[in-house]
Amino acid sequence: MLATALVPSRLRWVGRVRSTNDVVRDWLRAGTPEVCVAVADEQTAGRGRNGRTWTAPPGAALLCSLGFRPTWLAPDRAWQLAAIVALAMADAAEGVSSLSPGAIRLKWPNDLVIERDGGVAKVAGVLGETDGLGGHDPQAVIGIGINAAWRRVDFPPEIAAEMTSLLEVSGRDDIDRRALLDMFLAGLEPKVRDLQVGRFDGRAWADRQLTSGRPVRLELPDGAIETVLATGVDPATGALVVADREGRERQVLVGEIRHLRVNGARARV
Ligand code: BTN
Repeated sequence: MLATALVPSRLRWVGRVRSTNDVVRDWLRAGTPEVCVAVADEQTAGRGRNGRTWTAPPGAALLCSLGFRPTWLAPDRAWQLAAIVALAMADAAEGVSSLSPGAIRLKWPNDLVIERDGGVAKVAGVLGETDGLGGHDPQAVIGIGINAAWRRVDFPPEIAAEMTSLLEVSGRDDIDRRALLDMFLAGLEPKVRDLQVGRFDGRAWADRQLTSGRPVRLELPDGAIETVLATGVDPATGALVVADREGRERQVLVGEIRHLRVNGARARV
């Protein structure tokens, strides 16, 4: 079925919620059409990937979730929803912060990062949660949290070395989260429309990847560590392509690892 909804079908910006992903999941369950968008100033139970928490002081980040009913997307392509959200936010963040195009990179699969002091600092993360993919009423919630007007002195000490914000990297006095949201949604709409008719700009997603050509340290679910060369990504499957010491390549899917660390950097997936 070809969806015709505009972005967004419903938009609500609230002060404080447990998690914007929960808000949107509840809307979808109640029948709200795609693409619905919830934004919050603060989350009391924000979630990150792999069971981690996601926190930010009130007003310091743009905390946003989008709800899709992807009857138009094959289940093995659901990762592309997170990819287009990450790409649209990277463009918007560069726009509102006056960063040069391409300054924000993706650390596979969809962390938004910036290279700093020989390392990699994370500015945003994406969390996709799905229900019923492949069934008659598939639902997908894609949440993104991007550190906006969060001053470096206020970063929690335990993660200050591996995180940054648009305020910090732009040198500006403030970051207008409303303008960031507007620019993000405007950029997302054509990407959603493309995906609805089977078009995904795999090249743009691959070109943004910071990991390509670099040694990476993979932490597997059982805690085992493997250091390999990330040779690229596969825009058909969403996998990271890695090579071992003998040059043998293989694909790594998101669910197969717990953390990815770019050599010499401390950001996580
Ligand atoms: C990550 O671990 O990198 C993903 C972080 C995703 C955080 C966002 S903030 C808005 C939305 N609501 C949540 O509870 N999580 C996502």
